[in-house]
Amino acid sequence: MAKKNVNKKIRIPFNKPAIMGRELFYISSAVSGGQISGDGKFSKRCHSFIEKRFGAKKALLTTSCTSALEMAALLCGVSAGDEVIMPSFTFVSTANAFYARGVKPVFVDIRPDTLNIDEKKIERAITRRTKAIVPVHYAGVGCEMDTIMALAGKYKLYVVEDAAQAVDAKYKGRYLGTIGDLGAFSFHETKNCICGEGGALLINKERFIERAEIIREKGTNRAKFFRGEVDKYTWVDVGSSFLPSDILAAYLYAQFEKINDIRLKRKRIFEYYYANLKALQKEGLASLPFIPGYCRANYHMFYLILASGRQRDEVMRRLKDAGIYAIFHYVPLHTSKVGRSLGYKAGDFPVTEKISSRLLRLPFYNNLSRSQQGYIIDVLKSSVRAAM
Ligand SMILES: Cc1ncc(COP(=O)(O)O)c(C=O)c1O
Repeated sequence: MAKKNVNKKIRIPFNKPAIMGRELFYISSAVSGGQISGDGKFSKRCHSFIEKRFGAKKALLTTSCTSALEMAALLCGVSAGDEVIMPSFTFVSTANAFYARGVKPVFVDIRPDTLNIDEKKIERAITRRTKAIVPVHYAGVGCEMDTIMALAGKYKLYVVEDAAQAVDAKYKGRYLGTIGDLGAFSFHETKNCICGEGGALLINKERFIERAEIIREKGTNRAKFFRGEVDKYTWVDVGSSFLPSDILAAYLYAQFEKINDIRLKRKRIFEYYYANLKALQKEGLASLPFIPGYCRANYHMFYLILASGRQRDEVMRRLKDAGIYAIFHYVPLHTSKVGRSLGYKAGDFPVTEKISSRLLRLPFYNNLSRSQQGYIIDVLKSSVRAAM
């Protein structure tokens, strides 16, 4: 009997990690250099790259953006009973980093244009328990950071930017991740610059640096020891093992060397989708991503918002039948099991609910070819029309 292969028909995956330059050479150099644990020569190169290019005071590689967010939660000193403001339209780690420490995530609806937290709705969510605001730069497009930073100043709140998707993107000339007190990047294989699993914490305030190094090194002052500032290292604070192997840093550094090429490749892909799908927007069949003029995008993804959830699911099914793997996200956090246990219910955040049921993400990776894109566009257009 022939073996059943459910993926046999999928010819265009959603994501495909690419070697962009010297990744394999640097990995072998890390190994032959004799250090593949954390903070070897490639980690150091990555740190200074992030600090120089983006303008962070201090960068520390982490095992994921999730770990960077957890470090941020520890650095903000949150504790049980505190509240942290964030969108419900985000990945679970934005909330879990704080929720795991007894903090209540206080959700705010998103804007229908950028799909970022609606800055006009933040102030009314602030209480005397609020400790921080966590703006999530969806699709690498900046949240309204001027308003958010002004609110944080007024109410003395921390700002932790979830810039998982926003590496190399700017808001009013400043790189995302460097505007708040702390920023978190992701280098997961679906992101723009990758190393499989990885992230970075960007520390934009001097006073967090020493404690961040300790938290990242299992609660010890090992970083100081390696710099020769203390003669032994010991347990000084809470912490965990948040630093990645230098093998991953080697891969990542090779990607950083090609960051301008990566942006250019992704820009071309984004613009080709946009130019060829804008007819759908004109006809009122779907809406396309919106990037405010003062935001420099990193072209992290391309999505469409379809007219209904039924139509989105139907289009996704038709694409899959044609061998194209498109996906959706996020299940809004307020309607999840944990969200409901916190007292939230369907109907609380109408824009989030409407968008998340209709959003479709198209295949998007550095080496997606024009002919593949042409095929996706043709199938998509006919599917959207057929699914009316
Ligand atoms: C907004 C957001 N935050 C956090 C994360 C978690 O990133 P990582 O997989 O690097 O932990 C993701 C992952 O996609 C994300 O999209």
